[in-house]
Amino acid sequence: MTDTRIITGHVLSFMQSPFQTDPAEAVRIHDAVAVEDGHIAALGTEETLRASYPRARLDRHKGKVILPGFVDAHVHYPQTAIIASWGKRLIDWLNTYTFPEEIRLSDPEYAAEIAQRYLDLALSNGTTTMCSFATSSPASVPAFFEAAQALGVRVVAGKTCMDRNAPDALCDTAQSAYEDSKALIERWHDTGRIGYAITPRFSPTSTPAQLEALGALWREHPDCLMQTHLSEQTDEIAWMRSLFPDARDYLDTYEKFGLVGSRGLYGHAIHLEPRERDRLREVGAALVHCPTSNCFIGSGLFDMSGLMAEGQRIGLATDTGGGSSFSMLRTMAAAYEIAQLRGTALHPAQLLWLATCGSAESLHLGDRIGRIAVGMEADLIAIDLASTPAIAQRAARAGDLWEAIFPTIMMGDDRAIADVWISGTPLTRPKDV
Ligand code: GUN
Ligand code: ZN
Repeated sequence: MTDTRIITGHVLSFMQSPFQTDPAEAVRIHDAVAVEDGHIAALGTEETLRASYPRARLDRHKGKVILPGFVDAHVHYPQTAIIASWGKRLIDWLNTYTFPEEIRLSDPEYAAEIAQRYLDLALSNGTTTMCSFATSSPASVPAFFEAAQALGVRVVAGKTCMDRNAPDALCDTAQSAYEDSKALIERWHDTGRIGYAITPRFSPTSTPAQLEALGALWREHPDCLMQTHLSEQTDEIAWMRSLFPDARDYLDTYEKFGLVGSRGLYGHAIHLEPRERDRLREVGAALVHCPTSNCFIGSGLFDMSGLMAEGQRIGLATDTGGGSSFSMLRTMAAAYEIAQLRGTALHPAQLLWLATCGSAESLHLGDRIGRIAVGMEADLIAIDLASTPAIAQRAARAGDLWEAIFPTIMMGDDRAIADVWISGTPLTRPKDV
């Protein structure tokens, strides 16, 4: 039997990138969306859709905004319990907080508990797809995939590979990283809604031999994504230079070993050289902006407008738990603030596009998620534009929908997420049917 549902509200459907046209013109606003068998079936008015789908259930969300579920293009689910740890910059933060916690996830029971906790927090914040690093323990990958599969959410993840400059308990080898990652790809990649990302943590924690092995693995499985970190902090770049004295720049430490390609995701990408920018654009790689993390760990100001103007593919991410939030609303607010510090005011349509379509395209999933259009998978959220008294009183003054949405982007959190649908099925009971 087909399961059909009509959801009403301000349904936002991006027709093109709001970075390539007048932002408000990039979006069409419909009154209702029909979902059938987990996919978007039609857009229109409540009346026309009820005529076409007379047996459909009706979820009325008058005044709320219906969006694709948020897509978080770079997270570390194992860092859930150490989010908001005080006082360190990147290298000290890794050694003091992150590595000890990632060692704890070598216990598969603890990994399963953290995976479930992370997914619950992400979903309550309206994030329906994420691309996560696991730890270097191979069992931390199925812990995440099994929890995601039980919820029916679309996810990407991979075993983090590190064979130097990390505690022994977290170090693998070039050979074991290759073999364990390959076995995980063969077991999990492209099963149901799960994708695999080959995951060298960053070049300072991998020997050239490990990077070479992972480059070979990517050539053998070119439909996998590859995720890593790039040019996040100046101290990290100086360290990379001492470890790879022959490299032209940071990107070259990946490029030499076949780890630069269009399905590559490069987290942070703040302090880029002109050659690196040219090469990333040439191959169509994705740069992932992690604005709360870049503020929290003190990394720097991502050049959103410059990188967009030169045609880079860009996604948006929390970078939980270097990032200080599970919320893509909070992440959009930080992206807005960083752009302001660089002299550009991002339009709310641009921020919403980055958190949905932009991130989905960075994961090469733009044909399935991240947009409300016929045929797309129906992972949807309803956003309450008056979720707190402070937001409500500002939205009440708004002259148009964008002005009403912006206070929620800047001040909203999980209280603004009124409902979440995964493949067209509500995760929580609709509150105001
Ligand atoms: N660089 C290498 N590992 C990490 C990590 O876990 N978080 C962040 N923010 N940067 C990294
Ligand atoms: Zn990261």
